[in-house]
Amino acid sequence: MLFQSDLLTGRSVLVTGGGTGICRGIALELARHGCDVAVTSRSSEHLDPTAEEIRALGRRAVSVEADVRDAEAVAFAVERTVSEFGGLDILVNGAAGNFLCLAENLSPNGFGTVVDIDLKGTFHCCKAALPHLKQRGGVVLNISATLHYLGTPAQLHVASAKAGVDALTRVLAVEWGPHGIRVNGIAPGPIADTEGVRRLLDDAAKQRAEKATPLQRLGLIEDVSNAALFLCSRAASYITGATLVVDGGLWLASNREAFRMEPVSGR
Ligand code: HXC
Ligand code: NAP
Repeated sequence: MLFQSDLLTGRSVLVTGGGTGICRGIALELARHGCDVAVTSRSSEHLDPTAEEIRALGRRAVSVEADVRDAEAVAFAVERTVSEFGGLDILVNGAAGNFLCLAENLSPNGFGTVVDIDLKGTFHCCKAALPHLKQRGGVVLNISATLHYLGTPAQLHVASAKAGVDALTRVLAVEWGPHGIRVNGIAPGPIADTEGVRRLLDDAAKQRAEKATPLQRLGLIEDVSNAALFLCSRAASYITGATLVVDGGLWLASNREAFRMEPVSGR
């Protein structure tokens, strides 16, 4: 999406997981619309090229390594962002981990690792950002999923973590609304050309997902980044506590095979 605007000019964002995939797309989209952008994850190899792309769009960029499981490292990343940009207006929580593993084979550490990254990491970032978001009103956007709406096999760890993220979105929306802070989420379906889909879907599964999706295709990174732009902008100024599903209708249609009901003729 090449469209640019001043919608977020004067604003700053910290995007966790912003060096790759969906959250790189969100970081670049917010930059295109005027936002200064800090990106954080474990690896500067992932972050630095994205920071360069943000600078090429004419915005200020910060790249700071932090493991979201480490509350102190997260606090440092937030402070770096604030010292470079003079404040923090938007936090996007996208850092996540995933692998396919049936519950019976999942180790305590395997389960805990994903919960620590996705859920506790989101909590650490929200806590560290709060004093700055309070200063001039702000936005939190949590990247969730739809896996926990159903009993998705081999995803107990991720489904549990993302269900927690959705709960966190709702509770913080209520607690932080009076500070002028909106807290929302996006629940993407399978998004093409991402690590998530590479880990979860082989070619045959991708084709099945395309066919099962009412809009008949996998999502694009820009489908998610467009939704993120909306939720982070003034256009969404009365929306809080919502998790917007961006999945082409896939999860709503997921019982289609079981319920192929035709109207009884003559009635
Ligand atoms: C079973 C596994 C496993 C696997 C790791 N573990 N991979 N168990 N099957 N394939 C277990 C390990 O054995 C270990 O438990 C524990 O998890 C921690 O593993 P580490 O490798 O030490 O963890 P770490 O180095 O911290 O890496 C975290 C990670 C890794 C999540 C395991 O894959 C990662 O860094 N992922 C980041 C990128 C990513 O996953 N992107 C996709 C996001 S998409 P033991 O008991 O042995 O100590 C997404 C939703 C997609 O989230 C939805 C699509 C529709
Ligand atoms: P991705 O590119 O692998 O994004 C995950 C990011 O998290 C990476 O940039 C990774 O960077 C960072 N990260 C992982 N562990 C971290 C940690 N401990 N601390 C800090 N950063 C960490 O995958 P993606 O597919 O684009 O997924 C992005 C988001 O969308 C995730 O929240 C995912 O759950 C969600 N989602 C994706 C899909 C999909 O179809 N792809 C569907 C539903 C939901 P480093 O390796 O540098 O740390």
